[in-house]
Amino acid sequence: MKTFAIVTLTVSPALDKSAHFSGLVAEQKIRCHSALFDAGGGGINVSKAISKLGGNSLAVLTSGGATGEMLKDLLKRDSIPFEAIETKTWTRENFVAVDDHTNSQYRFVFPAPAVSVNEKQRIITTIQELKFKYLVISGGLSEGLEVDFYKQIAEMAKDNNSKLIVDTTGEALKKVLEAGVYLIKPNVGELAKLIGVERLEMEEVKDTAKQIIAKGGAEIVVVSLGPQGAVLVTKDNYEFVPAPHVVKKSTVGAGDSMVGGMVWALSQNKSLKEVIRWGVACGSAATMNEGTQLFKTEDAKRLFEWLKDR
Ligand SMILES: Nc1ncnc2c1ncn2[C@@H]1O[C@H](COP(=O)(O)OP(=O)(O)OP(=O)(O)O)[C@@H](O)[C@H]1O
Ligand SMILES: [Mg+2]
Repeated sequence: MKTFAIVTLTVSPALDKSAHFSGLVAEQKIRCHSALFDAGGGGINVSKAISKLGGNSLAVLTSGGATGEMLKDLLKRDSIPFEAIETKTWTRENFVAVDDHTNSQYRFVFPAPAVSVNEKQRIITTIQELKFKYLVISGGLSEGLEVDFYKQIAEMAKDNNSKLIVDTTGEALKKVLEAGVYLIKPNVGELAKLIGVERLEMEEVKDTAKQIIAKGGAEIVVVSLGPQGAVLVTKDNYEFVPAPHVVKKSTVGAGDSMVGGMVWALSQNKSLKEVIRWGVACGSAATMNEGTQLFKTEDAKRLFEWLKDR
């Protein structure tokens, strides 16, 4: 049985393409330049963030067709260890385009291709055959995976004394809480949705997180607040960490970078005070880069130093 400190799971990865253009005009060819290709998807991004901090993880993902081959090539380019479950459907592509005239960013997200019953079983078996301390589940579900799929994975991981970190939304998040996990990282909108309300005020965030913890849904709830920072709530602790002011270029990957920073810090046995600060530092550092790029290691370290005593 292969052993890893951290395993990440991405059931609906994407081949991320990003480019620039000058002016959005209907019916005409829009010439793009500065094209970049990246392997994308929640868990994959978390693995990349961990690698940037000097850590190691195994990324478990689905991959299909020529786009899947390219996804794997890009992971090799970035030296991210992975285990791919081959799917009959092709890996999807996502497209991010920046208009140089306005600096506006357009994000085209394609639907996740379907996963067959057999392929689903292979995802489960792959996870079952690995030994790990932390399992990170990040991103949405693909067609063909039941809404309680993450809950099934969570129950399996718990039986092996692993700690589960979950960053997903809607019904999949609601269901996985029934199994009880170690840490969840909803943004404030996702937290509101979870309890069936339109929006939550800052003062309500702590109580909502406490309720989830009291019901046994999670031990740690980290709620990210975009440019405001994040809060960490446990049964006995509450920490608010403001985000540092940075020159924002693109918020793509901020949430994943935050999760990566926190999981890496947990795997290094850092205190929860440091864990949340590494999360905010990596999330904010990610906003300093364009398109689908995550963060620069030196930016994350510098922001962490700044946050350390705050
Ligand atoms: N405009 C910003 N300025 C500084 N830091 C930011 C900004 N936006 C996000 N961050 C940082 O990134 C972290 C995560 O951001 P956010 O709350 O937007 O996550 P998210 O909604 O899950 O993002 P994603 O869209 O990547 O899933 C924040 O806690 C903060 O540290
Ligand atoms: Mg998010």
